[in-house]
Amino acid sequence: MNNVNLVKVEGPEQGAEHVFGMIKEELENKRLNVLGLATGSTMIPVYKKWVESDLDFKGVITFNLDEYVGIGAASPNSYAYFMNEHLFDKKKFKETHIANGLADDLDEECASYEAMLNENPLDIQLLGVGENGHIAFNEPGTPFDSVTHVAELTDSTLGVNSQYFENDEAIPETAITMGIQSITNAKKLILLAFGEKKRAAISKLLEGTVTTEWPITKLLEHKDVTVITDLDV
Ligand code: GLP
Repeated sequence: MNNVNLVKVEGPEQGAEHVFGMIKEELENKRLNVLGLATGSTMIPVYKKWVESDLDFKGVITFNLDEYVGIGAASPNSYAYFMNEHLFDKKKFKETHIANGLADDLDEECASYEAMLNENPLDIQLLGVGENGHIAFNEPGTPFDSVTHVAELTDSTLGVNSQYFENDEAIPETAITMGIQSITNAKKLILLAFGEKKRAAISKLLEGTVTTEWPITKLLEHKDVTVITDLDV
């Protein structure tokens, strides 16, 4: 037994439906002022559903989990571009924040991002998961008390994520990412994982042992976690 509220769905569409219901309820009850967002293919149906709806985010401030170092919103491979394309160009928010991967001083960028998060505590953080159990770009071995920092991506993550890179642009080997502490500071966590490639990560989570080797397992110590998956686990 663990604290995770496990929601079994047919697939990504039904998963997006479930997230929609949760977000709608929080908005209606005025409990959603600051929303943490994620990128990745898992999130595309979620944002599509929001865009097609009458959800009103005009009072909501967002923070994205991560961004590659060395590329900016002009690159179709950046997370800023992804967010503009799938959500921000189509829905109005009060403010949207993504770390600047082109900042001259990356340490300063990380510190100011973390300071903004501290001033605007996350009500909800949406999460995907990497095949190796990473959350945001917190790779296996990342300390649980990590805050926003520059992370080195593992070969496994570079391999998986490079398939989405367009225009022959090389995939950056580093990224700015919210730390595990920054993420788990959120009041409510919603993680989505679909397909066999995510089975190892979800199985590790549900096994119930908290270990830095599987960053996702830190969620076991959070009070309010929903995991939406199509896997029979
Ligand atoms: C990247 C992101 C993660 C995301 C993961 C899964 O590594 N940094 O935040 O969870 O991709 O992506 P996908 O949804 O495409 O499987």
